[in-house]
Amino acid sequence: MLESTFRTGLLNGKTAFVAGGTSGINLGIAEAFARYGARVAVMSRKQQKVDDAVAHLAQWDEHACGYAADVREYAAVEQALGDFHTKVGAIDIVVSGAAGNFLAPASQLSANAFRTVVEIDLLGTFHVMRAAYALLRKPGASLINISAPQSTTVSFGQVHASAAKAGVDMVTKSLAVEWGAEGVRVNAIVPGPIDDTEGMARLAPTPAARKAVQASCPLGKFGGIEDIAGLALFLASDAGQYMTGTVTYCDGGQVLTMAGALSPSAVQQMLAQGA
Ligand code: COA
Ligand code: NAP
Repeated sequence: MLESTFRTGLLNGKTAFVAGGTSGINLGIAEAFARYGARVAVMSRKQQKVDDAVAHLAQWDEHACGYAADVREYAAVEQALGDFHTKVGAIDIVVSGAAGNFLAPASQLSANAFRTVVEIDLLGTFHVMRAAYALLRKPGASLINISAPQSTTVSFGQVHASAAKAGVDMVTKSLAVEWGAEGVRVNAIVPGPIDDTEGMARLAPTPAARKAVQASCPLGKFGGIEDIAGLALFLASDAGQYMTGTVTYCDGGQVLTMAGALSPSAVQQMLAQGA
């Protein structure tokens, strides 16, 4: 049984759409899907990033395609997913990973800044899930939302990301309950601190902050993009076929110590240094 489940072409014949898939963790996920045999599409705002990502993914999927669209605009998301569906048929895997974040204490955060992050992360995730629903393979589809430790752990300067990602976790669980009967699985991944990403460049921009982050992980180190891609591969494939409604940490154990939280003084210091 294991031989048939964990074959090289784990995702052979499957189709995967990755929102926010043109850089960092999400591009790594799209690459893993393509390497294991899926036909992939990525979507993000900037045409150049889309073109570069598609060229990269073409190494493993010669039909890889991309869409320049903002997850905050439902019609644009619907159009991108609809076009991919026209090209490939029923969609097996959808990842919602577009996000925006920066360090800002609540007292210095404008209402528009809070709204912007909530609209990208939370509303954007609902848009992607909702627009994909009619186009999914049923039964069999696997939907994966990318959450963050801030959804459960309070970090100074992160009220906007916490509110948005806590919402993402609940969208995940709600849709798992509503769509489970149709054979659609919905899970969330919580990446811990992942090196060489835009997220870490923004949240741990100084050597001192990097050291503190590493120390907060029982494994004592940053994760790599491949670590998150591995979990996504599991959840997307039939190997994860009994998984739904989960919010799974891939974080070197950081959540156990609750020490991932940025201290007020560390954040003030980083902001003073122009972070
Ligand atoms: N601190 C405080 N407020 C900030 C900020 C910061 N570092 N960066 C942006 N804002 C505020 C802006 O001032 C604006 O509020 P205002 O109108 O009251 O002045 C609001 O956020 C929206 O900014 P804008 O630049 O118009 O938004 P955008 O939609 O063009 O970009 C961001 C969205 C701000 C999230 C941008 O950082 C982004 O595109 N991020 C994507 C990449 C990323 O964050 N990756 C890491 C993922 S974890
Ligand atoms: P990243 O490289 O900046 O990835 C964000 C992606 O989303 C980019 O492709 C970006 O491309 C796209 N995007 C941003 N706003 C968008 C919008 N409005 N509409 C459509 N696409 C949009 O960041 P990352 O660090 O790899 O983070 C990826 C995911 O992991 C995020 O969900 C983040 O919250 C989560 N995460 C990261 C870490 C970490 O350590 N890095 C830890 C926990 C959670 P465009 O600019 O072209 O739009």
